[in-house]
Parts: sequence; structure tokens; C-alpha cells
Amino acid sequence: MPKVSDIMESMEYGPAPEDSSAVRDWLAGRTFGHFIAGRFTRPDQTFATRDPSTGEVLAQVSQGSARDVAKAVRAARRAQRGWGAMPGHDRARFLYAIARTIQKRERFLAVLETLDNGKPIRESRDIDVPLVVRHFYHHAGWAEIAETEFPGHAPLGVCGQIIPWNFPLLMLAWKVAPALAAGNTVVLKPAEYTPLTALAFAEICAHVGLPAGVINIVTGDGETGAALVASPVDKIAFTGSTEVGRGIARAVAGSGKKLTLELGGKSPFVVMDDADLDAAVEGVVDSIWFNQGQVCCAGSRILVAESVAARFESLLRARMDRLRVGAPLDKSTDIGAIVDPVQKDRILGILSRATGAGAELVGGQAQDGCFIAPGYLKNIAPANPGMREEIFGPIATLSTFRTPDEAVDLANNTAYGLAASVWSESATVATDLAAKIKAGVVWVNCANIFAAAAPFGGVRDSGYGREGGREGMLDYHSPPIPKPLRDPLPAAIAASPDGAAHEDKNIDRTVKLYIGGAQKRPDGGASYAAQDELIPLGGKKDIRNAVEAAAGALGKWQGLGGHGRAQVLYFLAENLALRRSEFAGFASVEQIEAAIRRCFYYAGFADKFDGATVAAKPGHLTHVQHDPHGVMGVIAPNGSPFAGFMSLVLPAIAMGNTVVAVPSQDKPMAALTLAQVLATSDVPGGVVNIVTGPRDGLAQALASHDGVNAVWHVAQGEALAATERAASETLIPVWSPEPRDWAAPDAQGRDFLRRATRAKTIWLPYGA
Ligand code: NAI
Repeated sequence: MPKVSDIMESMEYGPAPEDSSAVRDWLAGRTFGHFIAGRFTRPDQTFATRDPSTGEVLAQVSQGSARDVAKAVRAARRAQRGWGAMPGHDRARFLYAIARTIQKRERFLAVLETLDNGKPIRESRDIDVPLVVRHFYHHAGWAEIAETEFPGHAPLGVCGQIIPWNFPLLMLAWKVAPALAAGNTVVLKPAEYTPLTALAFAEICAHVGLPAGVINIVTGDGETGAALVASPVDKIAFTGSTEVGRGIARAVAGSGKKLTLELGGKSPFVVMDDADLDAAVEGVVDSIWFNQGQVCCAGSRILVAESVAARFESLLRARMDRLRVGAPLDKSTDIGAIVDPVQKDRILGILSRATGAGAELVGGQAQDGCFIAPGYLKNIAPANPGMREEIFGPIATLSTFRTPDEAVDLANNTAYGLAASVWSESATVATDLAAKIKAGVVWVNCANIFAAAAPFGGVRDSGYGREGGREGMLDYHSPPIPKPLRDPLPAAIAASPDGAAHEDKNIDRTVKLYIGGAQKRPDGGASYAAQDELIPLGGKKDIRNAVEAAAGALGKWQGLGGHGRAQVLYFLAENLALRRSEFAGFASVEQIEAAIRRCFYYAGFADKFDGATVAAKPGHLTHVQHDPHGVMGVIAPNGSPFAGFMSLVLPAIAMGNTVVAVPSQDKPMAALTLAQVLATSDVPGGVVNIVTGPRDGLAQALASHDGVNAVWHVAQGEALAATERAASETLIPVWSPEPRDWAAPDAQGRDFLRRATRAKTIWLPYGA
């Protein structure tokens, strides 16, 4: 025991453990069942959950079987009708009650989280649990106003939610709160390493009298998760590894279940030469040394301007050496325990491959038990596994760049796209980087800030869907149901409204694909017969060429801005109106007129689908913008040769995407005729590319192409399943619009524009 005089001399911290007796009393030798239909089941097969900092067994929890999952889904289904029909105000009261009860038990939950997960109590107490409380309050508010804010929208039904172990209670809140606010019921599977706070949450739900079955919690491992994915739920919301996310996307393909994926990351942390270096170093602490680096959006790749790299590294090193690794319950611990020995081994495995491939590890020593000291890898080549793989431990990479362009290239040199942090005292430079880096969230002069009102989620291999704010609520709703498809479809008729019959069909004409602004023969040279013409039979090679052309046109098209695109679309609409007779014979009058109106409509909307500045946190400008996906594959409906095609292509391009569009297979002539109007309407080459042929095969080619960023496929059954399976590998989001009367006035609107974009959240603190 050191004497006070010694301590005064060394200024060493003494131990300051948080009291865990209340939690230990609650746990005391307990064996938990699942929480189904409002009560805990009797435990059957169980496994231990441990404190990773000591290895001590905390409790036994149940390993959920497919039968348990089925029971929970049935309970959720039974409860959904009443919960979904309940006035939003009443749902809000339950959510407020949950928030308040969590607030009252904050200390208890923080200690429980720290014991089960190994994270420092400072973080669970000051970050995780307060954010959980705010999330429930925020979503209580959404429940209150849902009827007017989401008119005509409906809950999805029963949501299966699978969460990871790095922020157990916070991830639960991110998933459960919006689902409930929107009128869904839930079956949630916590991670096997950290089930305890979810079980404590179940008790809270029972305590506030939440109707039985609204929340069901089934504990277990990946097999339990897989059973939930396979069960008859309406949506799966998953946060976890990219590998498991891919498997889930494959498993739900063709099932009609909605899917949102929040996957891994390898987020850049960019320090420009004019950055406040001390602040940036604190940013690193909050990024990669927060929660032992087990953070999906951790700024794990530090990229620093060469001219300040030496100074930055010496500051970083000094700060790193002062971080305290130790007992998670100790209030002065900065770095706690890695969640499980399996994860520790995984981290050490990547580090040994990284150093084996020539990188130098500074710090980062493994310690006894589940502890790893903070560190970073330097002198690391871009292809080094430490640079490419998500380490998910307290180890960053440190590399340099010379110019802002190089910084952007390096930042985007990853398969992931979850988050980024950029540091510069120049607003011009910082916002330029924020716009150019491919990520769902960008923090300017700050890092890892979260708020219930700010959408969070990724692009590329980091997944799709958003959690938080309005965007997050929309992902738990289905939009108003479109008018049913009129049956039979209006047959093609040959007269235009001005009476000019279509007569100039030139039988010698060769109909071609339209790629990069030019008519192109299909690569295979084959054709098929439709509408009395020989239609080019497009194939994979044509899709590749078209994607390349679309990618090449992105810069110019987006550079026009919303206003510029509005003018182009207006001109296109006018030209279509003037040349409507050219379409007669290829589509009905109704189809042609609807397509023209659609074009005027999206010309009007092109610069009006605004983002928002959300009220996320005082002292921060939190800006949510609707970014285009990039290159989109659009497979138009077969039965609606012109209105259907235009109803999908127009919102996509209005938002700044470029498209590879596959028109109606049976009636492609209207779309091919459009190509000629596009060419004379200032629509830059490559913005709309038209490939005719077998819709479903071409859809698969698009969904498997890495250069495509989103796919819309009007299809059902096996055709859609095949596209979704292909997209599960590339992690391209697929939307299958409901069949509808595409010529109807309501086959347009905000839902299409939302689908054509994804939210990017940019955080700009005042006077950082
Ligand atoms: P994981 O992806 O296996 O686990 C996440 C959740 O998915 C857990 O609840 C797990 O039981 C469940 N799960 C596992 N297999 C499943 C399946 N086939 N079907 C349905 N659910 C399934 O992640 P894991 O193995 O715990 O960690 C491995 C790596 O994944 C980490 O080192 C890290 O790189 C990454 N990861 C990323 C997270 C993020 O927030 N982005 C969170 C957790 C892990």
C-alpha cells in the first residue's frame, strides 16, 4: 500500500473503482431465459457470459433455438396489430416511460455494461447510457408526431434485429426505439458476448407495462441470429461484420424482407497541414482509442499531411503514452478490456500479419488477460493487411500525404464507406474533403459524435440504411401503398393526341443500344424480335461498357448542380412534348403523356429535394444532405413501356445519378426512341444509357457489377431473388418498387427521390 507522501511525490492515480454491488446482487448466480411475450422463459440450454477483464462468470444465459425464435416471432406478430394501431401519442408515452426508467437506472446499467463488455466505466457512464436515454426520448417524440410527419405510411410489421457487442445497450436503443415509434414490434438478438444489458432492458419494458410481445429478446450466438433471419419477420436490421452482413443479405434475397445493414469500416482520419494538431490528437483518442478501438466508425486510418507529420506523431506518441490501460470499473481507466479472448487473438493475428508485411508497430503490446495497449502501425504500405482489414482494436495506421487530392484518394482507397474525420482550420478545405470522401458520416474537426437526430450509416461495404433522425424513421416505415396495377395494361395504341398517326416506321432502320451518348451495336451482335423490330440483345459486356460510360458522366452531371439539371430536364420535357408523335405506336397515348408530365415534374424537383440541418447537438451544425448514389442500374417494368421507364429513370437522374437503364423487354421501342430525344436535349452522353435485352439477366449483371451503386428492379419472385443474391456479394442496395399503374399521377414523388439518394451527415462544430 503506497503512503500518501509517496503518492504526492509520484502523482500516481490510486484505484477508484465504481461500486458494482447492486449489479452483482442482481446477477447473483442467475440463469436467464429469453424474454418472450412479456415474460422470461424457463432456461434450457445455456452458456456463460463473462467479465472479459477478469474472466469471471457473470451469469448463465440461454442459447436460443429456432423454436425459441419462432415463439418470439409469433408473440411479436400477435402484439403488432394492437401496437401498430395504437395512437402515436400512446406509443410515445411508453417510450418516454422507458427513457425515464433507463435514466433512473443509469448507474446500474453503466456498471452492468462495463462488467459484461469490458469498456471503461467512464465511457458507459458518460457516453453509452446517456445516449441510450436520449435515443428513447427522441423517438418518443417521433411516435407522438408520426401520424402527421409520415402521412399514409405504415409500420413494416415484425422486425428482427441483430446487434453486436461493442455498444450493446446503445445498439439496442438505435434499433428498438425507431422500430417501436413507427408501430413495429421487435425480436432482438443481442451479441453472445454481451447479452446482459438487453435482459435488464427487458425487465424495464415489463416494469413500464409495455404490452406483452412488443419487445422480445432471444439470446444466443450466430445460429440464433441465423434462425431469426430465416424466420417470418418483415425486416432484418443488422449491425456487425461485413462478412455476416453479406451472408444475411444472401439469406433474405427473394424473401420480400426489408433489410438494413450497418457493417464494418476502416474510416479515414485526415489531418491537413493547417489543422489544430493538439485538437486532432484528442480526436484520435476519441476515435481509435475509444472503446478499445472496437468501434465500427473508428478513425482507424490516420492520414496526415507530410509537412506536419513529425510534429503530429510526437504529440500523438506523448498522448498515447499517458493513456491508462486497466480495470474497466476504475473511473480513471482510459482503455479497458477487449471483449473476449477470441477478439484479442483476432487483433493480434492481424497485427502479426501487418508487421510480417513490413509495418512497424508503435505501442500496441498485448498484456495479460484481455488487454492490448493503444498503438499504431507506421511505415505501412497501402496493400498491407493492417491497412485494409478492420482491426477492431486500439491500433490505428499512420501514413502521410502531400496534397489534398492525394488525401482524398487515400481516404477513399478502401472497400468501406462508413465514416471519416477531417481536420483543417480552413472551412473551404474541410468542406471540400467532406464532400469528396465517400462515407455516410463525416466529422469536421471532431470525431465519433453521435446524436439521436443525426442519421448514421454507411455506403459501399459498410452497408445501407440509416439509423437516427427522420431517415432512420423512414427505414421502419413503408410509404403509402400505390394504386394497384390496372389490369389489363393499356394496350399500345397508334394515335397521338394531335391525331398524327405514327407512320414513319422505317423498316431499314437498325435499332441500337444507347451508350455514352452514342448508338452502339450490342457486343454479341445478336438481336431479338419485338414490336416489329429487331431489338439489340444486350449482354454482360454491354452492361460493362454502359457502366463505364455512366461512371464517366458522373462528374459532369453532378457538376451541373440541381439547378443545371432542372434546366436540362425541362428542355427534355419540352422536346418530348414536341416530338410526342414519334412515340406513337410504341406506347399508348396515356403512357406518352404521363412520361412527358413526369419529365416536367422532376425538372421542377431537381433542385428542391433539400437536405436538412438537424437539431442534433448544441454548438454543432449537423447537416444531412441527400447525396446521389452514383451509377444506378434501373430495370424498368416490362408492362409499362414508357411511363414506367421514365418514372424510374427521371428521379434517378434528377438527383445527380447516372443510369444504365433496361427498358421493357417486350416493348422497348419507346425507350429506344427516347435515346434520340436525349441526344438533342443537352442531356450529356453517359447520363442515360439504354441496354435492351433479357431484363432479368441484365439485372443480375448490374447487381454483380462493383461499379454500380444502387439497383432498382421492378420484379417479383425468382427474378428479384436472383438480383438480390447477386447484390448480396457486392452489397449494392436493391429496391424493387411495388407494381403500380405507372401512368397514374401518383407514380412519382419524394419516395422515389429518397430512394435515388442516401443521406450523408456532416458534423461541423462551431468554433471547434
Ligand atoms: P459478427 O458479425 O459475427 O456478430 C455480430 C452479431 O451477429 C452477433 O449478434 C452475432 O451473434 C450475430 N451473428 C453472427 N453470425 C450470424 C449469422 N450467420 N446470422 C445472423 N446473425 C449472426 O461479429 P463478430 O464475429 O462478433 O466480430 C468479428 C468482427 O466483426 C470484428 O472484429 C469486427 O471487425 C467486426 N464487427 C463490426 C461491428 C460493427 O459495429 N460494424 C460490430 C461487431 C463486429
